[in-house]
Amino acid sequence: MSSTPLPRVRPRRLRETPALRRLVSETRLHPADLVLPVFVREGVSAPVPITSMPGVVQHSLESLPEAVDAAAAAGLGGVMLFGVPEVRDARGSGATDPDGILNVATRVAVEASAGRLVVQTDLCLDEFTDHGHCGVLDHRGRVDNDATLERYAAMALEQSRAGSELLGLSGMMDGQVAAVRDALDDAGFTDTAVLAYSAKYASAYYGPFRDAVESTLEGDRRSYQLDPGNRREGLREALIDIDEGADVVMVKPAGSYLDVLADVAAASEVPVWAYQVSGEYSMIEAAAAHGWIDRKRAVVESVRGIRRAGADAVLTYWAVELAEWIRNGDTE
Ligand code: PBG
Repeated sequence: MSSTPLPRVRPRRLRETPALRRLVSETRLHPADLVLPVFVREGVSAPVPITSMPGVVQHSLESLPEAVDAAAAAGLGGVMLFGVPEVRDARGSGATDPDGILNVATRVAVEASAGRLVVQTDLCLDEFTDHGHCGVLDHRGRVDNDATLERYAAMALEQSRAGSELLGLSGMMDGQVAAVRDALDDAGFTDTAVLAYSAKYASAYYGPFRDAVESTLEGDRRSYQLDPGNRREGLREALIDIDEGADVVMVKPAGSYLDVLADVAAASEVPVWAYQVSGEYSMIEAAAAHGWIDRKRAVVESVRGIRRAGADAVLTYWAVELAEWIRNGDTE
C-alpha cells in the first residue's frame, strides 16, 4: 500500500510558536528608524487639524516644542519640518527669510530637541510660492530649473543657519544636490547633511499633503517629478544624487514604489529612506474609521513592508504611535 510521502521540508516549523516567529523575523521595527513629518503654520496660536489627515495637525510655533519633545520621548530618529507661511509670492521669498516660518520653526525645534533627535527641514519652494510650484517660473510659466537652483542654495544657507542638520531636497530639479552641497561648503556648512528625495514620483498620493500645506498648485508637477511607470529612471535619479554628494537618498511615495526602493537599496552606498506619504496615511485611516480594516495591523504591515523592501528609515505620520506599539512589543 503506497501512502503519500510525508513532506521532509516544512517551513511551517518555524511559524509554530510566537517565540519561534519572533526569533526568525527578518524585519524588525525600531523607533530610531522612524522620522515624523511635522507641519508648522505661521500666524496661529493653537494647532489646526488637517481634515484630510485625521489625527495630524498643523502645529503653531507654540505647540511645536511639545511635538518635538513627544517625538524625542518616543525615541524617534528625527523630525522633518514643513512650513506653512501666511504670505506667498512668485519667488517664494519666505523660504529665504531668516524670519520665515520654516527657519523660525527650525530654531524652535532645535532648542526643544536638545540633541535628542535629528532636526531636518524640507527644502523646496512649493510651500512658499503663490503658484504652488517647487521652483520659480520663467517668462513662459515653465519651472526654471537653473534659476531655482539659486533659490535652493540660498534656502540651504538659511536652513543651516537656523540649525537644520539634514536638508531634505524635495524639489526634483536637476543638479539640486550639487548646487546645495557647493553652496553649503562655500559658506562653511561642511557638516550639514543632504537628503535627496531622489526618486520622487508625480503621485496622486500627495493629495492630503497639499491640504496640509494649503498649496494652491496651478497645473501639475509632471515636468519635474517622475512618471509613475518608470522604474529604471528612479534608480538613475538616485545614482545621480549619490554622485552629486547626497548623504541619504529617498524614494517617495513608498507603498506603490517598493520595486524602485528595492532597486535603490541594492545599488546604494548611502542610507536609503522612504516616505510613506499623506495619501498612504489617509487611506488606511479612512478604511479603519469605517471598520473595514484593522488599523494597527495595517499600519504595522505597511511600514514593515517598506522596511522589508530596503528602507533603512521611514518617514511616516504614524511615527510616534508606532514607536509606542514597538516599545510595547505589539509589532512582533
Ligand atoms: C514638496 C513635498 C511634497 C510632499 C513632501 N514634500 C508635496 C509635493 O511634491 O506635492 C508630500 C508629502 C506627503 O504627501 O505626505 N515640498
